[in-house]
Parts: sequence; C-alpha cells; structure tokens
Amino acid sequence: MRRVATPLLAAVALVLGLAAAQAVDRRALPPNARKETARIALGRRLFYDGDLSIDGSMACSTCHLQHHGFAEGQRSHPGVTGEAGRRNVPGLANVGERRSLTWGDGSIRTLEAQALVPMLGTHPVEMGMKGQEAELARRLGRNACYARLFRAAFPQEQGAIGLPTVTRALAAFERSLVSRDAPADRFARGDASAIPAEAQRGAALFRGHCASCHAGPDFTDDRFHAVATGAPDPRDRGLGDVTAKTRDQDRFRTPSLRNVAVAAPYFHDGATETLTEAIRRHKGMTLRSDEEAVLVAYLEALTDKSFLTDPKLAYPDGPCEAD
Ligand code: HEC
Ligand code: HEC
Repeated sequence: MRRVATPLLAAVALVLGLAAAQAVDRRALPPNARKETARIALGRRLFYDGDLSIDGSMACSTCHLQHHGFAEGQRSHPGVTGEAGRRNVPGLANVGERRSLTWGDGSIRTLEAQALVPMLGTHPVEMGMKGQEAELARRLGRNACYARLFRAAFPQEQGAIGLPTVTRALAAFERSLVSRDAPADRFARGDASAIPAEAQRGAALFRGHCASCHAGPDFTDDRFHAVATGAPDPRDRGLGDVTAKTRDQDRFRTPSLRNVAVAAPYFHDGATETLTEAIRRHKGMTLRSDEEAVLVAYLEALTDKSFLTDPKLAYPDGPCEAD
C-alpha cells in the first residue's frame, strides 16, 4: 500500500504488520461478522492508499481529511493531472445514510457506484485510473496484506482483486464513518448542559428556519434545492446538468451539517468562507445578526470531536488485520 507523500513509512508499517498477530479475537467472530470486519479493514487501507491513483500521488484521503470531517478545507482540489476540481469536497460523516450521493446527481445512489467517480472519472480527472483496472489489480496483488485481506473479506469471490471488490470494501469502510456524538446529539438525548445557552437558542431558531431542508438526524432532506444567491456559474448548473430540465437548474443536494464548523469553505463551489456567510447566502434568508450568531453557535455544537480523532478511522499504521 502506498502512503501518499511518505511511502517508506507505509512499507515499514507493512513489514511490522506482517510480523504481528493481532487477529486472534477476530477468529472468535461468526463468519459474516468476520467478513464484514475484514471488509472495513480492507476498505480503510484502500481509502488511504495512493496506489488507487495513476501516479501514486493521490488517495481518497488526500481530499477527504478526517480532521475536517472527511471534507477538505480548500475550495476544491485538483486531480492527478492538475485539472482543477469542479466542486467543494463534502464531508463523509454518516455517508452510508445518504439516499443519493454528490452535490448534484440524484442517480448515484450507492457508495460502490460513487467510488468509481474519483477513480475513473474524466470530468474532471481526479485519480486518473480509467482503463487501468488490470494495473490496479496488479499493484494491490503484490501486497501480501492485501492478498490476505481480500481473501478474508470476499471468500465467495476467492479473494478476487478488482474494481467490484475494491469498491465494495471502500463502501464498507465508508459505512463505518458514523458520527453521532456531537454536543448537539447529547443535548438532543436529554443532557441539557451539553451545549451553551446561546446554542440552545440557536437550536430553536434552527427548527423554525432551517430544519425543513436540513432535516432529520444528519440535517439533510437528501433533496435538491436552488438556494444560492447571486448569478449561477454557467459551468455548473447542478442537478440541471444531469436531468437537462430547466426546473432542476442550480439545484444542489442539501448538505449534511454534521461537523460543518470544521468543513469550511462552503456550498457546492466552496466560494463561501464562514458559517455566517453561508447562512446569508440562502435566498430570502433575512435574519438579525444576533439570530445568525446563535445559529452559528448551534452549528458549532455539531462538531463531533471523537469522530474527528477516532484512531479506527485514521491512517492504518498498525499490523495487517488479516487472519
Ligand atoms: C481530488 C479530490 C478527491 C478525491 C481523490 C476523492 N474525492 Fe470524494 N469527492 C470529492 C468531491 C469534489 C466530491 C463532490 C463531487 C460532486 O458533487 O460532484 C466528492 C464526493 C464524494 C462522495 C459523496 C459524498 C456525499 O455526501 O454525497 C463520496 C462518498 C466520496 N467522495 C468518496 C470518495 C472515495 C471513496 C474516494 C477514493 C476512491 C474519493 N472520494 C476520492 C473529491 C475527491
Ligand atoms: C430550502 C432549503 C434550505 C433551507 C431552508 C436552509 N438550507 Fe442551508 N443549504 C441548503 C442547500 C441546498 C445548500 C447547498 C447549496 C449550494 O451548494 O448551492 C445549503 C447549504 C448550507 C450550508 C453550507 C454547508 C456546506 O457544507 O457547504 C450551511 C452552513 C447551511 N446551509 C446552513 C443553513 C442554516 C443555518 C439554515 C437556517 C437558517 C439553512 N441552511 C436553511 C438548503 C437549505
């Protein structure tokens, strides 16, 4: 596996990994749970592996950073060929719950299908692996830990290494990106002291002004709305570019607001720097500045520190998880 920027470290970690035997308690699990555990471990290694890009320079984690809630902190990120990124990188907290994926395409409904977009996509080129499926299988197959993990994760497929199993493993890891322990969650579960009074006033305002779209446990209705003020960018008309319907122009999927305070900049184009500006950028949103301030306090209470620092979701520098 290729650690982006520091491949040597990955090699050392791998050697250490092969020497250690940490898998003892996994063998006690029932077969399906063992398979799922192996898929998550494999998907995590793949998520952090530069070998998923043509020149080894880019992993999923190059753009999706844990301490930003798996968003990025930049307006957009160029692909391996230097082609500019088209959109802001969204966070991945609870992404397994989304009904459709990406900012503006209602037809991408599974994580398995979505993973092909950055790997093989050409609009724009991100990881540049189109037509390189055999090369990918060859690279991953060279790695003894991967060979064992693919066998543990996909026994019915005889551990086959290819896009179908790679994308299923990535999806299993992504479904483990669960964030449900922000102060606002603890407040919602009845701990009245979990968030400051200001944020509590913000929570009440949020219910009135925001929750129609930022609905449910992840603060999204998974629907597409045209909310951004200002002239639309003719190069990105959101859902309208996919459906070619006038009424879908400039509609984007309501983003989840989990960990939003650490995921600036905002909106599909990443053109909005702060939470206050993000609130003001909604069409027809006229709030007093004290109302904006309490709303921002509430949005800040959606940061789940344990999710941002959970070592189980970080770069896998421990021993190989295969049995
Ligand atoms: C070059 C930066 C970049 C890389 C590398 C990258 N992504 Fe992304 N990712 C993005 C951007 C930008 C979007 C939004 C795309 C859009 O809306 O059209 C996105 C969207 C997503 C989404 C949809 C999230 C949602 O809420 O709808 C998932 C899931 C995802 N990426 C997973 C991955 C995986 C898995 C990999 C590695 C195989 C990966 N990404 C590699 C930039 C990147
Ligand atoms: C009509 C539906 C709707 C309502 C009501 C609404 N939003 Fe949004 N919100 C959206 C959509 C859609 C976007 C993304 C728009 C885009 O990228 O063009 C968004 C973007 C955001 C963002 C940026 C998040 C990110 O990751 O880029 C924040 C923050 C936000 N909204 C907060 C709020 C708050 C706070 C309220 C209430 C004061 C509110 N929204 C009301 C639909 C809505």
